Amino acid sequence: MAFKHKHLLGIQNLTSSEITTVLDTAESFFEVSTREVKKVPTLRGKTIINLFFEPSTRTRSSFELAAKRLSADIINFNLNASSAAKGESFKDTILNLEAMNPDAIIIRHSCSGATHYAATFSQSNIINAGDGFHEHPTQALLDAFTIREKKKSFKGLKVVIVGDILHSRVARSNIFLLRKMGARVILVGPPPLLPEELTQFGVEIDFNLDRAVEGADVIMMLRIQLERQAKNFFPSIREYRNLYSLTAQRFQRAKKNAIIMHPGPINRGVEISADMADCAKSVILKQVENGVAVRMAVLYLLLGGKEREGTD
Ligand code: CP
Repeated sequence: MAFKHKHLLGIQNLTSSEITTVLDTAESFFEVSTREVKKVPTLRGKTIINLFFEPSTRTRSSFELAAKRLSADIINFNLNASSAAKGESFKDTILNLEAMNPDAIIIRHSCSGATHYAATFSQSNIINAGDGFHEHPTQALLDAFTIREKKKSFKGLKVVIVGDILHSRVARSNIFLLRKMGARVILVGPPPLLPEELTQFGVEIDFNLDRAVEGADVIMMLRIQLERQAKNFFPSIREYRNLYSLTAQRFQRAKKNAIIMHPGPINRGVEISADMADCAKSVILKQVENGVAVRMAVLYLLLGGKEREGTD
């Protein structure tokens, strides 16, 4: 077993062999969701809490389905109906939920580092479902699962990640993962949304999308995260769309068998045209489908009863 972590806090501290273990495990769980009875007894008796302080459609439902398909019990914390809405702190919320003896807590929070902080005092397995601008490890793992399914290998693939890189935890986790697996990664976006420091992680930077998509194998579009922007990073949505939206004309520059990815939610007509989002080269809904198997794999590897030797 090449996975010895108590928590899944990010991709940065995983090895390429641990990433491969998650992807291989996900592959073995994929068919459970295609059965008439979509359930295996693997995590019977385990209790999981979905603790989301930010909205989510895909990640939260996908973790819930993953837990249920593994026969674990899962509860969804409702922020607005909780005592957090009355001012209870993040730490007290977790300590009180933990007093009920869950096995794992899946956390999404607007603060970068929130899940790392939780892991310093929590007895449960902590899973990062997205922390601020920092990481969204299960998104990168399901993206990798989808890329491997379509391209077989990561070595030498040209992956172009486009958009609001500055605010994107998805971009950060994908950068770590894709570089560890041997892909070439080119980041594209308006200069204020494209921090040059990221080149320290072995990625290239380009401000011209037409040039960057030339010969690409994978084009990953990102949502403009207006909710995280305290100031205007570009003059107008119209200008952003003209320079950085994926259109059919731009996509023609990529390889013939290139695929289009997006973590969702998509802004149709902003970062991606509706025809591109829905075309045969788009794997956006495949990413969502694969997310369940990948999250089953993560829950199994962290909670599956194997001896845990690691500390993070
Ligand atoms: N990709 C993603 O994290 O989507 P949600 O915000 O809907 O979970």
